[in-house]
Amino acid sequence: MVSIVLVGFMGAGKTTVGSELAAISGRTFCDLDTEIVKTAGMSIPQIFENFGESYFRDLETSSLQSVIGRQGFVVATGGGVVERPENWPLLRAAGRIIYLQATWECLRQRIGCGTARPLARQQDGWSQVKALFLRREPLYLQADFVVNTDGMDARQVAVAVAELCPK
Ligand code: S3P
Repeated sequence: MVSIVLVGFMGAGKTTVGSELAAISGRTFCDLDTEIVKTAGMSIPQIFENFGESYFRDLETSSLQSVIGRQGFVVATGGGVVERPENWPLLRAAGRIIYLQATWECLRQRIGCGTARPLARQQDGWSQVKALFLRREPLYLQADFVVNTDGMDARQVAVAVAELCPK
């Protein structure tokens, strides 16, 4: 069964939709951020703080490499996986790539004010985070399919994605 790779900005719902999608489609769920945390033995904010973003990106590329060749998976990626051009052949090799799209307004509300995402800390209001989203959006659009998630709950999005990726 073809694996499904979910991409999208922070707050797009990749993890929640991914686990729901795995359940309804009989696939195995894998969250790359969780794998990175396990490998590093520390949280994502700690990785950024102690070793910097580029080290985190190296771990992200390695975790992506580790899911290649596996069938029947749903892989939730981190929002920045699209940044490195060398990750694209890996994403394509890992499965069918689905962009979970949402408007900036919707993402901002879903991101909220937590501290778990180093790149979503609002030092200056939201302008830097929004700029990051606008810069990345054309990258996400290189996915095989785009699913607009505005106004939909995780289950509805999961059903829409499952329909795009029959066994
Ligand atoms: C990041 C998104 C995060 C996580 C890390 C970096 C990004 O994942 O990988 O904080 O660069 O957008 P989520 O998209 O699951 O929040």
